[in-house]
Amino acid sequence: MTITPDREARGFSFALETVTAADGIARLSLRALHRPKFGAICADWLTPDLARRIAAGRKQPLAKAVGLNKPRTPDEGPLQVLDATAGLGRDGFTLAMLGAAVSLLERNPTTCALLRDARLRALAVTGAQAAAERIEILEGDAVQVIADPANHGRWDAIYLDPMYPDDGKSALPSKEMQLLRELTGGDADADALLLPALASAARRVVVKRPSKAPPLGGIAPSLQFDGTQLRFDVYLNPRA
Ligand SMILES: C[S@@+](CC[C@H](N)C(=O)[O-])C[C@H]1O[C@@H](n2cnc3c(N)ncnc32)[C@H](O)[C@@H]1O
Repeated sequence: MTITPDREARGFSFALETVTAADGIARLSLRALHRPKFGAICADWLTPDLARRIAAGRKQPLAKAVGLNKPRTPDEGPLQVLDATAGLGRDGFTLAMLGAAVSLLERNPTTCALLRDARLRALAVTGAQAAAERIEILEGDAVQVIADPANHGRWDAIYLDPMYPDDGKSALPSKEMQLLRELTGGDADADALLLPALASAARRVVVKRPSKAPPLGGIAPSLQFDGTQLRFDVYLNPRA
């Protein structure tokens, strides 16, 4: 199946196809026809790289930023997180493996298809099944979903990781990020995400940023947690 990307004007085209790799696992994969030297990409949550991140536990900056390091009573149930810019779902899956119930929200339909495929594969793996069951995949625009009164109070934390503009100065982004950027056209409207998220009933809003980037929308966070080459800006909601 060949699909047309959102940015037709830039002349990109992609193939979405099921590829069975040397490990015998069939994965829905996205191939950039204009980049024949790039292999296909897929949403894969069962990689050694992600396993290492998950093994770093609830004290890692991402987990602390969303509040996963705070004890919860059985009555409270799992921390409810909206990953409002899900992408390939790696951050969201990490949070689910660390105990959160995660709504993965993505506006690009092709990326959503990759996410659904990743979840189905994770459901079939013993060590990942419970986390995959705590994940739901929503297709839509974050600004609308967050502002929808039907979703009021649904999430404890809203997590935002929009693409950072390619300033041409930094090292080339990863192959996955480069293809995602070409598929979606980048997230030039990223600043518009923060105010609706802050106006929601979520107790905190977390934004992932490159270390040296200004805060999203120029709005200073309440707290920051530093990671490697990136940081998590945390906005605590005084009304929640
Ligand atoms: C940098 S990627 C996220 C990577 C992700 N954190 C991960 O771990 O794989 C950003 C994603 O957010 C999506 N996105 C950006 N703005 C959005 C919006 N307003 N609503 C829904 N999805 C959005 C983009 O389509 C893109 O797939």
